[in-house]
Amino acid sequence: MKDHRVLSGMRPTGQLHLGHYHGVLKNWIQLQNEYDSYYFVADWHAFTTHYSDRINLEENVSDMVIDWLATGLNPNTSTIFVQSKVPEHAELHLLLSMTTPLSWLERVPSYKDQQEKLKTKDLSTYGFLGYPLLQSADILIYKAGLVPVGEDQVAHVEFTREVARRFNFIYGREADFEEKAEAAVTKMGKKQSKLYRALRKSYQETGDDESLVKAKALLGEQQNITLGDRERLLGYAEGLGKIILTEPEALLTKASKMPGLDGQKMSKSYNNMISLREGPDSVTQKINRMPTDPARVKLTDPGDPKKCPVWQLHIIYSSEDTLKWVNEGCTKAKIGCIECKRPVIEAINTELEPIQENIAKYQSNPNLIQEIIFEGSESARVVARSTMEEVRDAMGITY
Ligand code: TRP
Ligand code: SF4
Repeated sequence: MKDHRVLSGMRPTGQLHLGHYHGVLKNWIQLQNEYDSYYFVADWHAFTTHYSDRINLEENVSDMVIDWLATGLNPNTSTIFVQSKVPEHAELHLLLSMTTPLSWLERVPSYKDQQEKLKTKDLSTYGFLGYPLLQSADILIYKAGLVPVGEDQVAHVEFTREVARRFNFIYGREADFEEKAEAAVTKMGKKQSKLYRALRKSYQETGDDESLVKAKALLGEQQNITLGDRERLLGYAEGLGKIILTEPEALLTKASKMPGLDGQKMSKSYNNMISLREGPDSVTQKINRMPTDPARVKLTDPGDPKKCPVWQLHIIYSSEDTLKWVNEGCTKAKIGCIECKRPVIEAINTELEPIQENIAKYQSNPNLIQEIIFEGSESARVVARSTMEEVRDAMGITY
């Protein structure tokens, strides 16, 4: 069943909030039952934008893993690890940097966007430019086929595909690939080799798919060549070598539009979030302070839920009946905003209560967290090491 591998990561730059829970974690938790799943804390990535901020990484990393576990990520079903504990990521990043054109990195949309957005930081660094390539290494080292990400990260997965393709193109041939292929052609016998050569030539010169199909059929019929030779000749006909790094696909997370307290997307940088660790009183205060439809100055002024960020929360948390009650009450001025907010407050607190109980349990057992990170990172490393052996082999770093 679990024949596809999923990988995703999160940067440990601050507290997890309801936006992470609804937009990312619930999806990860579901995927872990269907796929061979790898989830990691991208701690090195934090330095690409926060290199001069003294963030408490140690605390952030362990808090992040605690929050993952508390919401339902299962270390027995998924491999949960920390990037810097698998230093092979850095080796692959270095080696991929040799073949990646600078212009590809400069063209990644987040490069200029983020520089614009984070004007207070000097992001004209080597590390920041190369960050999508570090992400490529994160993905390719596990040969992950699927990468669950939000819209903003899709371009990075596309970039990763190009990086993999280029690597395979350059290093996906054994040193003596052509000689071995030629020797195999001869083994097919005079008539057959002549036909193979003609089909190969036609496909490579004119891109005629029909020729490739015929070449494949011809190879399928051959009794006198080995399986290895057959694969080699397939690649030879297509003009490809061996595939070493797998091209991943983005698994676009259905944009859960978790609104923040101001109606914009919930995000740390907008200062409009409810953290997974927010206590019930704080949740109550924050929701009660939320702005509502400005038309509702007095209780008797009717309003329009569509103009109110609280309504967005009702859509996520409330039943049909409650939604009806809000709509009626708001447009006919039958309920006050504080009253309207009450079910949302209750729903959020009910959602957070069991999560926070779990968080408390894990917090009282720091050794367990250490152990989970250690074991997850060790088993990730087994996969990473094996990919690196293939990569070094392909590049001739075998001494
Ligand atoms: N760049 C991602 C983000 O900012 C985090 C990340 C790092 C990641 N490496 C990854 C996501 C590999 C998916 C796969 O959210
Ligand atoms: Fe918003 Fe509810 Fe107030 Fe209407 S009654 S403005 S939906 S908080």
